[in-house]
Amino acid sequence: MSKPMLVCVDDYEKYAREHLNQHSVAYYTCGADEEVSVKENRQAFRRFRIKPRVLRDVSKRDLSTSILGQKIDFPILIGPAGTQCLVHHEGEVAAAKAANAMKTCIVLSTFSTKSLEEVSQAAPNCLRWFQLYIWRPRSIAVNLVRRAEAAGFKALVLTLDMPILGKRRSEWYAGGFQMPPHLHLPHLPKELMGQAKEDARQEYGAPADMVIGASLTWECVEWLKSITSLPIILKGILTPEDALLAVQHQVAGIVVSNHGGRHLDYVQPTIEVLPKIVEVVKGKVEVYMDSGVRTGTDVFKALALGAKAVFVGRPIIYGLAYDGEEGARQVLQILRDEFSLAMALSGCSSVSDIKQEYLMHESQLAKL
Ligand code: FNR
Repeated sequence: MSKPMLVCVDDYEKYAREHLNQHSVAYYTCGADEEVSVKENRQAFRRFRIKPRVLRDVSKRDLSTSILGQKIDFPILIGPAGTQCLVHHEGEVAAAKAANAMKTCIVLSTFSTKSLEEVSQAAPNCLRWFQLYIWRPRSIAVNLVRRAEAAGFKALVLTLDMPILGKRRSEWYAGGFQMPPHLHLPHLPKELMGQAKEDARQEYGAPADMVIGASLTWECVEWLKSITSLPIILKGILTPEDALLAVQHQVAGIVVSNHGGRHLDYVQPTIEVLPKIVEVVKGKVEVYMDSGVRTGTDVFKALALGAKAVFVGRPIIYGLAYDGEEGARQVLQILRDEFSLAMALSGCSSVSDIKQEYLMHESQLAKL
């Protein structure tokens, strides 16, 4: 039977929800508690309206940008999302090949089901960053950093917003996260996997505080800087205060992220906290954002509010569920094309043209 024609990211989500098993649907789609943050991540984008300009010669558009000095064809990266072999047998390898085909960057998760070496071998020309959690003991992280360096990864993305796991009800109702026996997590030490089975409701089967370390403080950023010369990006920043601390610790970048609403419910939507964070950071570090990006106009809005680029998480999972590498590539292509359209129709011919003056928040409409 031929596959349906899918025209937007939401179509891929619908397809994934209809074709994946209930455990996978729960794991990939759900959020913490009442899922207010998940919904708000989308709603908040809708509260910003675009103010298009006309007669600006948009016949040629340059979507390219650079991240930490490396050029990418358009400002949308594949964000780190674990265990992608659950949706397609090629998992993160397929995602990396899609990123390579589209000339953008993939951020590989610590919880990937393909190793960083496999991903490098499959997509050697693709710009790759490695997402890191700091483990106990720290020698585990040291080992991963050395592997990332040797495998040609160009930056480390340290995720900070999951000191312990949030509570995702849909996953509980579905009986907890279940890893099929034929899959494994090549970056997770065996001793942690061993303790796994004791609590079926622990994500990835490993006690989260052993993996991520609920006791971590800003000291770990200095420590990480001391063991590597790779640039460090902090993911999971949601307040200007923490953004300023990131600047003080002289990292290369931050990701304004609420983890797609997966751990703490009732956090602010990222698109709404982004402007204040960009303001206090004053260009001293690159600012990226994620959580809820689903359309080209979302990307336009994020850039208008000062993001250098956006990450997408679930959309790539949905693309993989549809058709592996080709599905992930289609999702990136759709987002890229929609972003190009948004630029043209707003009167922008390069990403540097996209400024805050193109946006208005819904709350200002009433005052007109
Ligand atoms: C994630 N995310 C994530 N982040 C991270 O730093 N390390 C990880 O291992 C994972 N794993 C993961 C698994 C799954 C199934 C999802 C959906 C997400 C969070 C991810 O990087 C990103 O912040 C969010 O997915 C962004 O929100 P959207 O694009 O999914 O709305």
